[in-house]
Order: sequence, then structure tokens, then C-alpha cells
Amino acid sequence: MINYDIRIDVSRAKSSAVGKEHGITPSDLKEIEPRIKAAHKILRKERKDGDYGFWDLHKDKETLKKIKKVAAEFSGKGYDNLVVLGIGGSSLGTRALLTALKPPFYNMCTRRARGGFPRLFIMDNIDPVTFRQMLRMCPPKKTVFNVISKSGGTAETMSQLMIVLDVLERKLGKKAVKDHLIVTTGPKAKGVKKSLLHPVVKTYGLKSFDVPLNVGGRFSVFSPVGMLPAAMLGMDVDGLFAGCAAMDKRCSKAEMTENPAYLRAAVQYLADTEKGKVMSVMMPYADGLLDVADWYRQLWAESLGKKFSLDGEEVYAGQTPVKALGATDQHSQLQLYREGPNDKIINTLEVRRFDKSLRIPGTLKQIKELEYLRGKSMNKLMAAELRGTIDALKVSNRPVSRIILPRVNANTVGQLLYMLEVETAMAGRLYNIQTFDQPGVEEAKNIARALMGGKA
Ligand code: PA5
Repeated sequence: MINYDIRIDVSRAKSSAVGKEHGITPSDLKEIEPRIKAAHKILRKERKDGDYGFWDLHKDKETLKKIKKVAAEFSGKGYDNLVVLGIGGSSLGTRALLTALKPPFYNMCTRRARGGFPRLFIMDNIDPVTFRQMLRMCPPKKTVFNVISKSGGTAETMSQLMIVLDVLERKLGKKAVKDHLIVTTGPKAKGVKKSLLHPVVKTYGLKSFDVPLNVGGRFSVFSPVGMLPAAMLGMDVDGLFAGCAAMDKRCSKAEMTENPAYLRAAVQYLADTEKGKVMSVMMPYADGLLDVADWYRQLWAESLGKKFSLDGEEVYAGQTPVKALGATDQHSQLQLYREGPNDKIINTLEVRRFDKSLRIPGTLKQIKELEYLRGKSMNKLMAAELRGTIDALKVSNRPVSRIILPRVNANTVGQLLYMLEVETAMAGRLYNIQTFDQPGVEEAKNIARALMGGKA
């Protein structure tokens, strides 16, 4: 069996690589070890008690069965377009999966090249220009919409839905709506604010999926939030779950040295709190992983950016996540990363083997200076650019933490996202903050609603 285990390498974030002032020392790691072990116990207990459900989403075979059934049913209708209406945690995971697991320029491919699956449009904003253009490009007859909102009250998403429903009703009639709209939202439960999407499901007789109550938006990619669009696009959802399961096993260890998520959390936390690395850059060296960096940006920012500690003290915790792309951003950001303030830890996201290779031909023979490129592959050039960057960062004493994927496929992407979720949960414990809420976001939502004349 092929080993798809992703690997992490934090050696270049250590003092032996970048010096004591900027790198993690052996004693830093030794000191944090008991805290990791104590946090591990708490995380295990929370998981067992069902406080936070993201840990076990990949085990929910029943939901996966239903997802596959509905995906197959809608596939049979031969739609050209799937449009996701959702924002933040309700859309970023789907975009990360699309970019990682579907070919580049997917929406521009012919239906045949798309394997017969629909194009995917992710509407995660309320820009009228973009939304109008989507409506022009996705005629209702040829389109299925998946509205995703855990709370079922987010103004951006609800406004999109209202526009779409109006179009569907006018163009196709009320009865046809159920063939063009699927709802993913929080479940009906006692003591929980009702999702405004429940009456919509009832009125139009729609297919719907629940986002478990104990799963927060940014941790919901492996719930129907991400898995329904993934299945509707023919992605290998079983492979994603297998990747989660494999990483879950590795992340069940209390020992930081054996647990990639814990080691990464410790390094990032120490880099921030002990070495002044108040920013964390995620820099994939593969176009397909750029939106993983975007998804992680939300996960890290919304989970850890907190005013209060669990003990009620004002702490203003959090590290600012930044996304960059190699090699592109070597020509945009690297100057700053090497010579600007030494306040960042750079996380490279590397791919050992790309799915395709491309040889640089022996053309332009008259230009001697290009001899070094002739006959080499683009793959080799990318590897050299990556190596050049991490070596150059070392020369300037900038810490680098590496994540290495053997390939980009459903299994490795499942591992990666799961590992980053566990890393975030552990980091939250180290910062001693509430990882799973987002009071700052809620307040902005309420103010905007009030400004529009709604109930704050
Ligand atoms: O992570 C989160 O909880 C948020 O980013 C939400 O996903 C985002 O605000 C959208 O919320 P909802 O799914 O309720 O519309």
C-alpha cells in the first residue's frame, strides 16, 4: 500500500537553525511539554463529552450515505452548475477542496473534461456585480443551489437566498424550487435559536442537511457543509475521510514528538509568545493548496484572536495569519519576510510529487544564459525555488515550519485539514482562550442587521 502520510519538519524553526533569539530552544520545548500533556487530557475529555464535534465528523457514515444519495440524485438531473451560497466557515472549506482536488481552471473545462460534473460557483460575498454575473452565467434551469448557513440568520447568505428564490420562482415556478435548491443548516433543537432556513425547507419541500450543533462553522468542512458540494462534484469523499482517520490516529498521541498537530501548535505558540513572531505565514508551493492557506487563515484568526482568557483576563491573544504563494510571492513578499521585521514564522506547504510534470524544452539555444533551464522540468525548478527560499530565510534567521505532502489527493488533503484543526484546538488550549466561539464576528453581524432596520 502506498504511504501517503504527510510529514512535518520544524527543525528550521529551532534555535539550532535560526539562533536563540528567533528559534525555539530545547528548553522551550521541554518546558511546554507538560502543558501539552495537560491540554491533551482536556481535549480528550471534551471530545468524549461531545463538546466539540469536529473530531468525529469523519466517522459519521450515516450522514455520508445520505450525502452520496442526494448527490447522485441531483447528478442524475444533469445540471451544469452548482452554486454554493454561504460565507466564512460555510464556504472556505469547499473552496479549499475545489482548488486542491479539481483541475486548475475547472469551471472553464468542458463538461467532458469535468467528468460530467457541474461547474462550481462559490458565492461568499454580497457584491452586486459578482452576484448578477453569476445569475447571468447560471440559468436557473441548469443550476442547483446549495444554501449553507449554520445559524440560518447570516444577512449576507439570506439576502443571496432571497434573490435566488425570487429568480427560481419567477423563472421555473414554486413547485420546481425543490429540484434546484438544497439547504444545509443547524438542526432543530430545544433551547437553540431556530434557523430561518427551517421554514424555507418546509415551504418548498426541500432536501436538507444538518450541521451538528457542536460543530462550529470553521471546523465544519467534513460535515455536509463541505462534503455535499464535494460529493456533488464527484470528489473522493471516502478518501478525504480516510485521510482524516489516518491523521486522527496520529493526533491521538499525547507526546508532542509523535503528534504532528501538537508539535506544530507548540512551535507556533512559542514563536508568537516567546520569540515575537506575531504573524504566521502559510506559504504553499503548489497553486492547488493556496485556498487551504485561505481556509487556515480563518481557522487560525477566528479561533485564536480573543480578548479574554478562559479565566476572564484581558489577553488579546492571537497570531495574525497571512497567506502567500510560492514561487509567485517570492517576487512580492519575500523581500519583507527576509529583511523586514523579524516578526513572522513561515509555514511552507510542500508537495513532494506533483501529479503532472512539464519539461522545459531545449529552445532559445542562442541564449547561453538560459542553458541552466533547458531540458529541466518545471517541477525541478519549483523544488529549487522552494529550497532557495527556505535556505535564504535561514540565512536571515527567520524561522520556518514545513508541512510536506507526498502528493495532493483526497487522502492527503483530508489529513492536512484535520491536522490543522487539531493544531488549532491545541493552540487554543495553550493560549488558554475559548477556541470555538467568535463573539467579535457576532457583534458585527448584529450591528449590520440593526443598520438595515432589523433586530440587533
Ligand atoms: O466559523 C464561523 O463560525 C463563522 O465563520 C461562520 O461560518 C460564518 O459567520 C457564517 O455563519 P453561518 O454559517 O451561520 O451563516
